[in-house]
Amino acid sequence: MKITVDHVKVVEVGPRDGLQNEKVTIPTAAKVAYITALGDAGLRVIEAGAFVSPKWVPQMADSAEVYREIPKDPGVEYPVLVPNLKGFERAIEAGVRSIAIFTAASDTFNKRNINMSIDDSFANYAPVVARAREEGMRVRGYVSTAFGCPYEGDVPPEKVLEVSARLLDLGCYEVSVGDTIGVGTPMQVQGVIGVLLQVIPASKLAMHFHDTRGTALANTVAALEMGIATFDASSGGLGGCPYAPGASGNLATEDLIYMLEKMNVDTGVDLNRLVQASAIIAPYLDHPLPGRYLQACTKGTMPFATSAAVQ
Ligand code: HMG
Ligand code: MG
Repeated sequence: MKITVDHVKVVEVGPRDGLQNEKVTIPTAAKVAYITALGDAGLRVIEAGAFVSPKWVPQMADSAEVYREIPKDPGVEYPVLVPNLKGFERAIEAGVRSIAIFTAASDTFNKRNINMSIDDSFANYAPVVARAREEGMRVRGYVSTAFGCPYEGDVPPEKVLEVSARLLDLGCYEVSVGDTIGVGTPMQVQGVIGVLLQVIPASKLAMHFHDTRGTALANTVAALEMGIATFDASSGGLGGCPYAPGASGNLATEDLIYMLEKMNVDTGVDLNRLVQASAIIAPYLDHPLPGRYLQACTKGTMPFATSAAVQ
């Protein structure tokens, strides 16, 4: 294994990708406490919500209230998902300073998720990004179904490259390449990244792995070997997309941090405090959090024991 990356930026997506998929209604105050604790754990980018249609994703209906109520840490960026100009205007009104737009490498998924083809989504996002730039806001881009689509099956890496390059051309500072339904495997990950790196520098790429089939950490190592240094993860392994059948949790942030720490890759995240953040949201869910590190903690005599206690 040859890894030259010595620092990883972790984009915490639990409060958005995680909570958007929960059946139960989570009180706004609990979301705010959770996001605050994630910042206290050292996470510097925390996706705080989604200004999408509440008819499509009711779990994110309170994102404006959540955003307003977060005690903002000046060292933390709190991006939110924005699907269209309406979402952008709502975000501006709530005081948002950083957004993420999202499209896919397969048309069928995109239609199910945002009711637009890939081409239509670019026409839709062009004025959103233009407005964001006028406001001096940062815009991140997502490409879903980069390693497989629940409706179309295999997705050509060249399509992932095309959509990623279009997002960067539109003005995104970074593209998050999503394994929406967690089908990717390490050699495939290296194949897709190899195609992307022919045109896009590693510094503009992030990987967004879901752990549906248990390959997310292996895929992370594969991506690290290719020089990728930004990874999305959700605390406790919360997550999934409501419009991707079978999609389950994201790579658990605790599992990622634990592995990176042991590989001497710096993240700036305090694992014990991260476990405490997951412990804040856990009681509101109707199921245990799936993250492995967290489960190892809860199997100890102390619930959510510190990492030192379980080593
Ligand atoms: P639509 O139905 O085609 O749009 O939805 P519409 O313009 O006809 O609007 C329908 C209704 O929603 C209208 O209300 C609009 O006003 C309202 P009505 O007139 O019927 O009362 N509306 C809005 N309300 C609040 N905020 C808005 C907004 N827009 C419209 N922004 C739309 C199109 C894009 C809005 C819809 O499909 C949508 O919101 N989709 C979001 C789906 C979603 O959030 N999916 C999960 C996130 S993506 C993901 O998880 C993948 C990722 O993690 C990466 C990976 O894993 O691959 C990022
Ligand atoms: Mg996702």
